[in-house]
Amino acid sequence: MSHSSPFRLGVLGSGKGSNFAAIADAVAAGTLPATVAVVLSDVPDSGILSLAAQRGIPGHHIAPGPFRTKLDESAEAEFIATLERAEVDLVVLAGFMRILKGGFLRRFEGRVVNIHPSLLPSFPGLAAWKQALDYGVKVTGCTVHLVDQGVDTGPILAQKAVPVLDDDTDGSLHARIQVAERELFPEVVRQLALGHIQVKGRISHRRGPTP
Ligand code: GRF
Repeated sequence: MSHSSPFRLGVLGSGKGSNFAAIADAVAAGTLPATVAVVLSDVPDSGILSLAAQRGIPGHHIAPGPFRTKLDESAEAEFIATLERAEVDLVVLAGFMRILKGGFLRRFEGRVVNIHPSLLPSFPGLAAWKQALDYGVKVTGCTVHLVDQGVDTGPILAQKAVPVLDDDTDGSLHARIQVAERELFPEVVRQLALGHIQVKGRISHRRGPTP
């Protein structure tokens, strides 16, 4: 990972963009030593693109092609080319709802991070907060991990626990997890920008001061 200054982020998202907003706000506040170089979405009218526009951050929609859960070849090439042009150091998946395949991951090897709304390896995949509620666990949370070729299987960088309350609904639990996400994700990106996280195989270590 390069540590040129400033550390350049490319953020990919499909949804409302609350994690992106937390990261952009931390950058604006000066607590995250990085710049959001570009925001890319597979969804044309996504909240994340509106939030980028409001902040004056370059944002682009890239049509994903005909598949439901992945990008087609030309879309993948366009995502890669746009991120390369923006000279990003780190690709941040902030609610990006498509699986990234080998070509993309090889290009940005070890430099793609995702936030997942459960304590992995429990409840990978979709609607993880609902999976946790339906299973009956009493603690869940969120995980920031490096992205590998599996679904939510890459090396874990950090996790934050969230209690499950007796009267929780899908909505209330997801909302509580998202509060934790908005704290954890900017902090982990900050540590990556500072070069404070090292990963060997599956195991990550934090060096330097802990928050
Ligand atoms: C988050 O809950 C994240 O864990 C999941 O997708 C959601 C994105 O939310 N991967 P937002 O678009 O950042 O508000």
